[in-house]
Amino acid sequence: MARFSGKVALVTGSSSGIGKATAILLARQGCKVTITGRNTERLEAVKQEILKNGSSENDILVVPADLNNESEQDKLIEGTIAKFGQLDILVNSAGGAFFDSEGKTGVMQGIDVFDKNIQLHLRSVVMMTKKAIPHLMKTKGEVVSVSAIGADHHGKLVKVIENVYFMDLKMVLSKK
Ligand SMILES: NC(=O)c1ccc[n+]([C@@H]2O[C@H](COP(=O)([O-])OP(=O)(O)OC[C@H]3O[C@@H](n4cnc5c(N)ncnc54)[C@H](OP(=O)(O)O)[C@@H]3O)[C@@H](O)[C@H]2O)c1
Repeated sequence: MARFSGKVALVTGSSSGIGKATAILLARQGCKVTITGRNTERLEAVKQEILKNGSSENDILVVPADLNNESEQDKLIEGTIAKFGQLDILVNSAGGAFFDSEGKTGVMQGIDVFDKNIQLHLRSVVMMTKKAIPHLMKTKGEVVSVSAIGADHHGKLVKVIENVYFMDLKMVLSKK
């Protein structure tokens, strides 16, 4: 039996890069997957690749969504439960590098870049995890969040907040 048979995963950022590779690999290992991102053409291409690898239409859900929008976050969780009836794995992989329009980096960047980073890389991860918790508690599920080596050096505040949050999450999920 495939390693993830009977499991359901929601992979953010699965229209590209690490999230895409993760969704394809999970599906190949028998997992049902919800794939998401904002770019519908790329999502369709990922879906076709998953189908080519042997999954059926019943095993894939495509939900185009902007993770900065809370009602679109709800659409992702609710759509996954409506289609598959459960959630076992949440992979938070959406993200990317935001550049200052003047090419400045670090503390010299405009505060709008900082705000965008916090919104997508921290707030949306926390919100998606909070929304997934009731379903993950039922399945004794798991959360995987993709971070960055750079977070150790440049993003310490984000890292500390994430660490505290995920330590608490571990306690919440282990009490199931
Ligand atoms: N690759 C690296 O070397 C590296 C290094 C350090 C950290 N990371 C981290 O690893 C994660 C994945 O990186 P990657 O290289 O796979 O990036 P990528 O290929 O650029 O993919 C990023 C994914 O995030 C999605 N995304 C971005 N903004 C979004 C939004 N507002 N709402 C919904 N989806 C959004 C994109 O989808 P759409 O464009 O379709 O919306 C895309 O699917 C990121 O969190 C990144 O910060 C990567």
